[in-house]
Parts: sequence; C-alpha cells; structure tokens
Amino acid sequence: MGKQGVNVGIIGFGTVGTGTARILLENAGVIAKRAGFPVVLKKIADRDITRDRGIPVPEGILTAHADDVLNDPDIDIVVELVGGIHPAKDFILQAIANGKHVVTANKALLATEGADIFAAADQKGVEVCFEAAVAGGIPIIKVLREGLIANNMVSIFGIINGTSNYILTKMTAEKAEFADVLKEAQALGYAEADPTFDIEGIDTAHKLTILASLAYGIPLSFDAVYKEGITKITSEDIAFATELGYKIKLLAITRAVDGQVELRVHPTMVPNDYLISKIDGVFNAIYVEGDAVGATLYYGRGAGDMPTGSAVVADIVDTARTILHGGKRSSGISGSGSAYTIRQMGDVESMYYFRFSALDQPGTLSKISGILGKYNISIASVIQKGRSASSSVPLVVLTHTAKEKDVANAIAEIDAMPVVADKTLVLRVEGKE
Ligand code: NDP
Ligand code: HSE
Repeated sequence: MGKQGVNVGIIGFGTVGTGTARILLENAGVIAKRAGFPVVLKKIADRDITRDRGIPVPEGILTAHADDVLNDPDIDIVVELVGGIHPAKDFILQAIANGKHVVTANKALLATEGADIFAAADQKGVEVCFEAAVAGGIPIIKVLREGLIANNMVSIFGIINGTSNYILTKMTAEKAEFADVLKEAQALGYAEADPTFDIEGIDTAHKLTILASLAYGIPLSFDAVYKEGITKITSEDIAFATELGYKIKLLAITRAVDGQVELRVHPTMVPNDYLISKIDGVFNAIYVEGDAVGATLYYGRGAGDMPTGSAVVADIVDTARTILHGGKRSSGISGSGSAYTIRQMGDVESMYYFRFSALDQPGTLSKISGILGKYNISIASVIQKGRSASSSVPLVVLTHTAKEKDVANAIAEIDAMPVVADKTLVLRVEGKE
C-alpha cells in the first residue's frame, strides 16, 4: 500500500507560521475529509521556542533547529516562513536538495532570487508553491496559473499591500497620522519585518513581479518594476483627492501594450465610483482582464496570520496531492521565451495630478501652463486654495492623458522656477478622460 498522508514541517513560527499551524491543527478534520488524506504537522522550527504563540502545540514538535525539519526523512513538505533572503533561501535550497517539496510565503525572496530556486526545484523534480506570497488569503496565483490559463492577459491592476492600504484608509477616513497607523499595522502583524518594504512600494513590487511573470511569461523582473510608495502622500493631497471625487490607493499595474508589458507600482487617484476605490483597510483587490474571460475581480484579506495561513495550507494540500497521486505541476514562472518585452516607464501614458507649491504672484499659472503645453500636457482642471503674497500656496492641476517622460521633463523645468517653492507632488490618475 502507498503513502496514506503527508508530513509537514514549518520553519518560522511567527505571524504566518502561527496561523498556518493553527489551521493545520484546528482544521485537521475538515482538511482530511476534503483532501481524502491526513496532513500531519510533524515539526515547527523557530529560533525562539519558548515564546507563547497563543496556540497549544502537541508535545515534541517544537525545535530550535531548522535542520531538524530539513533533514527529517519523514517530512515531505517544508514550509518556509522565516522571511528575508538569507537564511530563507538556504533553507529552501537545502529542502529541495533533500528531495522535499517547498511551500513559501516569501515574495521578497521569490521576486529577487526565484530563478535559482525554481531551477533547483525543476532539476530535483519537486514543487515550490507560493500562493501566500501574493495578496494574503486571495487565491490569485491559482487564478492566474489555472483558472485563467485559457487567456492572453490584457491587464492586472490591484491593491496588493495590506499595510499601505490600511494606512491610506485610516488617513482618509479618520484623518489619522501616518506614523500612528503604521504602528497599528505592525502590531496587527500586517507589516513586513522592515516596514519600508510596505510603505515604499517594494513589497507591492515583489508581488507584482510574481504576478507579471505568471501572466505574461516574462522572467521575474523585480529590478524593472517602477516603484513609488505612499510616504510622500500628505493629508492635503488626500483632502484634494476627496474634493475631486477620488481615493488615493497604492496600485500595482501590469498591462500589455503593443507587445510590451508595463510594470509599475505607485500611489494612484482612483475615481470614487470604481470598485477598487472602495477596498479599505487590510483588504486587497485585484482586477484581472483576460482576452477570453473579460474583466474579473478578486477580493479578500491581504495580510495577517489566518488569511495568509489559509493560502499556505491550500498549497500544502495541493502539494500533498502531487506527492500522493503523482505528477508535478509547473510553477508557471518561466525564465525565457515570452513574446513580451518590458515597457520603459518613460513611455507609459496616464492622466496626472500635480500639486505645485507656487508663490501666489501674477503670471505664475501662465508660466506653469506654458511649460506643460510645451511638453504636450493638456490641463483638465485647476484648483488654487488660499492666498499669500509671501509664502507658497498649493496649486492643483489635473491633466488629460500625457506621456510619463514628458511629465518628468516638464516637472523638472517647473521645479527649477523661482516661483515654485517646493518639489511638485505628482500622482497618476485612473479613470475615463
Ligand atoms: P514573522 O517575523 O512574524 O515570523 C518569522 C519567524 O521566523 C519569527 O518567529 C522569527 O524569529 C523566525 N526566524 C527568523 N529567522 C529564523 C531562523 N534562522 N531559524 C528559525 N526561525 C527563524 O514574519 P511573518 O510571519 O509576518 O512573515 C513570514 C513570511 O511570510 C515573510 O516572508 C513575509 O513576507 C510573508 N508574508 C507575511 C504576511 C503577513 O501578513 N505577516 C502575509 C503574506 C506573506 P524572530 O522573531 O526571532 O526573528
Ligand atoms: N506586509 C504585507 C502586506 C503582508 O501588508 O500586504 C502580506 O503580504
């Protein structure tokens, strides 16, 4: 008789490790019933096994040594949940070398070092699964790799960082201070070990790297992603956006344009009547358009112990099916052979919001609009608030569609003018012209 179930070892008993262990222990019955076989949590390694993690674990499964998981011949699946590049990469490569399948939530590692990991896994004939790496509990990897396999992808855009969405939501709805809300997100277990990854768009770019590779067959291209975070957004910009009928959201965008793929992460003004503008707090939402299916939308919690644990356990069960029933699924991440190249950010087109800090003097607006006109940037509307003969006042301009490199050149020229007191804040604007 063949194998009747699978044994799992987790390395990293933090936020996601705890959620994963809780689900495997508390939902063991329902998982076994649905899967048709038991999934047994055999070991959990963490460098601190004395801390109370808030869940009772069976005696003898905790260990302070990752090697106890990696070298245990009874463990079929190693779940890497320590995060970061090293030693996480070394753990995964050692697991693969030992013939074990791997499940990970580590988007930073996959986006930057994934090529080595998938190559090693292919060579050894094991799977590396990563549903939890993008959008927490939303099964977006399965959607792209399986559910929408029939489609040429038109575009993907979404909110895929829970921490920054939590911050923007509270700044908008409660006028809360950025730093206070970031602390809350950290306490809730949403933020990365280094929270600058969340607020500077790096975590979103890691995830977009993975999504774009799955969607367009391009190699993992983290360095090519244009990245801007939310740290420059002020309460003043949020107030202007509200007045104009928009929400500010940190969006990940990839779309196919003329055989090229855009890869960009930046705060974006989204019209209030777009569903994505209503995604609040830690929730994520991803809009995926395929040429056959049309528009589809996926929504759920993007971070936290249990939602992310849900995605990790789904991968464990899928991998267990492979182990018990044979075959090996492709990761969906390809190293080469895509029909697409990556579009330079300068060639991207968008509508824009500019907040100039301009001295309130006669002729200022005409000087600014003159430069915008010189670079083919057409103004849709202008708001100026307040009056001051001596200091600067905010001058807000919304544009029609313009080219990114024209905007960069125009803003550089405008910011060099003596009547402009501070760096201009530029946001891209989604919506219809
Ligand atoms: P945590 O920091 O909460 O957990 C990581 C755990 O691993 C900690 O207990 C840490 O110990 C331990 N650890 C670190 N190094 C080692 C080592 N060498 N050997 C054994 N244990 C080690 O992180 P998260 O659970 O939040 O994140 C884990 C992974 O999941 C990351 O890749 C993250 O990006 C990803 N992720 C996180 C989500 C979330 O909502 N938090 C959602 C989706 C993905 P110590 O505390 O001492 O450092
Ligand atoms: N720090 C990440 C976020 C965790 O806030 O979305 C989920 O990947």
